[in-house]
Amino acid sequence: MKKKHLQRLDLIFKNEHDTEAILEKTFKRSNDDVINDLISSGLKGRGGAGFPTGLKWKLASEEETEVKYVICNADEGEPGTFKDREILSSVPHKVLAGMAVCARIIGAKKGFIYLRGEYLFLKPQLLEAIDKFHSLLDEMKVDFRVEIFLGSGAYICGEESALFESMEGKRGEPRNKPPFPTAQGYKDKPTVINNVETLAHTYSIFKYGPEKFRDLGIQDSRGSKVFSVSGDTPVPGIYELEFGMSLQKFVDDFADGDAKAVQVGGASGFCVPRKRFDKTVIGYQGKLRGTSLPTGGSMMIFNSSRSMYNVLHNYLDFFVEESCGQCTPCRVGTQQLLLGVEAVKKGEQPSSYLDKLMDLAEAMRITAKCGLGQSVANSFSSIVENFKEEMIY
Ligand SMILES: Cc1cc2nc3c(=O)[nH]c(=O)nc-3n(C[C@H](O)[C@H](O)[C@H](O)COP(=O)(O)O)c2cc1C
Ligand code: SF4
Repeated sequence: MKKKHLQRLDLIFKNEHDTEAILEKTFKRSNDDVINDLISSGLKGRGGAGFPTGLKWKLASEEETEVKYVICNADEGEPGTFKDREILSSVPHKVLAGMAVCARIIGAKKGFIYLRGEYLFLKPQLLEAIDKFHSLLDEMKVDFRVEIFLGSGAYICGEESALFESMEGKRGEPRNKPPFPTAQGYKDKPTVINNVETLAHTYSIFKYGPEKFRDLGIQDSRGSKVFSVSGDTPVPGIYELEFGMSLQKFVDDFADGDAKAVQVGGASGFCVPRKRFDKTVIGYQGKLRGTSLPTGGSMMIFNSSRSMYNVLHNYLDFFVEESCGQCTPCRVGTQQLLLGVEAVKKGEQPSSYLDKLMDLAEAMRITAKCGLGQSVANSFSSIVENFKEEMIY
């Protein structure tokens, strides 16, 4: 029987240039209608947390403040993620159109693209796209301007409130929440912050209607998703696929035939061992709780030649380096986890010490201030639990 491959989609990367028509059509409609379309499409944020995009825009639109902002989060710091770079390179006008519609709905006149420092090379072509877009807005008499803000390469500055702090010229440290950005974001004004891919999806929804998007995917995970595929694969790259696929299908299509694990969602995501490939679905947790795994797009494949101890060590090194140090559970916890796994590997601590380290990681999930410290347990516990024999002396 012929093997059925996952369908490659091109909603986002399709070379369409009807920004003017889409803006005209969308601006003629009421804000409520546009927001309802977004809500009924089922679009959820593609930056990782999966907050419903229509609801985010609605909350910001309800704030009664004169000054509001739209920010495109292009910090893309999660290890193994490189899809936003490609979206901004090939279809920046779709992202800009999404920002302009959002601005119109919430009542913002100013937008920013927070561009990852390492993507400096993208700046000239993005500025060109923005100039062209501004000319179109001028013709349409739309009062909205977009600027680029260049980050400095800190992973934590992808976290929305640390990003605002960094834009305000302060240390990139997360704020307490609430208040949430839709009420108090950049400069304490109501702000919609969306991932690059989220904004690009809104273009397709405005163009083709919410049904086409909703028809793709499953239950709580609708539409398509852009994946960055790396590691032990003969075909590394960027792929737009239907959300809600089984991990087994993904491995059948993308791995080299010897995959022993897939890290879904980067260093802050989960490691799935071979025995669970067919029980795991890629999507947000909803009715499928327990079997579905969300991802901002990073899919790292490891074959049997890889040491999962080295993989975990690498992630912990990353977290120690990138923790902003503001709260004790994360600042001290990341270091202790790294020292702990090294001690077990060298035989200086018994294998039972790994259980204590897992308790520490779980304590960090509950007590750390932001998503960085809270998610260290995801990769830590899933790697230690599934590959314990590789962690010990
Ligand atoms: C440590 C950390 C890093 C993050 N980095 C990014 C990032 O690089 N890009 C991104 O879009 N979201 C990132 N996020 C999520 C943002 O805080 C925020 O949820 C997102 O930009 C919202 O957009 P969305 O609703 O379109 O997903 C990060 C979160 C955390 C905790
Ligand atoms: S969890 Fe880590 S990154 Fe987040 S505020 Fe605390 S120290 Fe900073």
